[in-house]
Amino acid sequence: MTILVTGGAGYIGSHFVCLALSKGMKLVILDNFDNSSAQVLKAIADVTGVAPDFVEGDVRDKALLTRVMTEKQVESVVHFAGHKAVGESTQNPLKYYDNNVYGSVVLLQAMAECGVRKLVFSSSATVYGVPEFNPYTEDHRKKPFNPYGQSKSMVEDIMEDACRADPGLAMMALRYFNPIGAHPSGKLGEDPKGIPNNLMPYITKVAVGELKSLGVFGDDYDTVDGTGVRDYIHVMDLAEGHIRALEYLSAHSGYEAVNLGAGHGYSVLQVIQAFESVNGVAIPYDVKPRRDGDLAAYWADASKALRLLNWKTRLTIDDMVRDSWVWQSENPGGYGA
Ligand code: NAD
Ligand code: UD1
Repeated sequence: MTILVTGGAGYIGSHFVCLALSKGMKLVILDNFDNSSAQVLKAIADVTGVAPDFVEGDVRDKALLTRVMTEKQVESVVHFAGHKAVGESTQNPLKYYDNNVYGSVVLLQAMAECGVRKLVFSSSATVYGVPEFNPYTEDHRKKPFNPYGQSKSMVEDIMEDACRADPGLAMMALRYFNPIGAHPSGKLGEDPKGIPNNLMPYITKVAVGELKSLGVFGDDYDTVDGTGVRDYIHVMDLAEGHIRALEYLSAHSGYEAVNLGAGHGYSVLQVIQAFESVNGVAIPYDVKPRRDGDLAAYWADASKALRLLNWKTRLTIDDMVRDSWVWQSENPGGYGA
């Protein structure tokens, strides 16, 4: 039986695909290359020795989805496909509701037509919004404050309603904290277009000399050193979380939301220090004003993932900064070079 992996050519999806193929799992990737390229498929083949089954197409194309599900005997779906830039979602919210929400509804409709009952969905810690308490547990109230976060929260609610209406469905929303790092082979990693918005890709672009200096967004938060604190998680640990989620769904029906995080945070300065000491590369930085919409500090209560999935993070911040740097230094231009 086959797993349909939407968005499997993207950053997180490609790492999941490598792990699943290395475990002998059968899958088909569906991606429209909106934010990725065919080079990723070559890298996956290189790392795993298996050329992944691939269909170029859009999750909003229901006829295509039902054809793929039928022809490939799809039994479960891991749904990574979507847009993820918070700033862009504020400028162009309809783009986010169309791809992230409407795309997920079409996927659920195709699954219903084809009798596919298991879904793992890429959600985000951003669904919680301003922390009422920290660490976030899964029953923390949801109040996202940008259209991207709202789109993730809406899809979660839709999944929950679908499961309530049909007790035979089995669906899990995985709320990722801050995924960083890369495949240990150095052949796959994060390859953002243009100037990165997120911390780790910005650091690696400074390290490789493409950008001059990192802007640290605020040093006057109520945190260990005044800079923002986040729960960073290695992308390979995150990939393993999806394998465990699929295992769980093979034995349980209904809807669950589960945090995937380490359960502790690091400040921006702590991440810079880890990067410098593990990799022996200096990261020049300047303190800048706070970034609009940033929160001071949050991390996951990861106990539900341990209880339900027998999953917890294994890789450390040193593994994350090392693997991010191996990927960037061996592929200074990303997949394009
Ligand atoms: P990514 O942009 O690297 O990967 C997404 C993939 O989906 C890309 O290959 C893109 O081409 C594809 N895609 C987009 N729209 C599509 C469509 N309509 N049809 C088919 N393919 C489509 O992003 P990522 O970092 O790998 O994130 C994967 C998922 O995890 C996203 O849903 C994202 O919102 C979520 N997420 C990411 C993070 C993060 O920090 N990276 C954190 C929380 C949640
Ligand atoms: C961002 C998204 C969030 C998403 C998460 C996934 C925003 C506002 N939020 O979260 O929705 O779920 O990615 O990874 O984009 N920082 C700097 N300089 C930089 C970049 C970041 O100091 O150049 C700081 C930030 O202020 C923050 C920390 O580094 O304290 C992490 O930032 P980032 O990697 O952008 O992630 P989040 O803001 O946590």
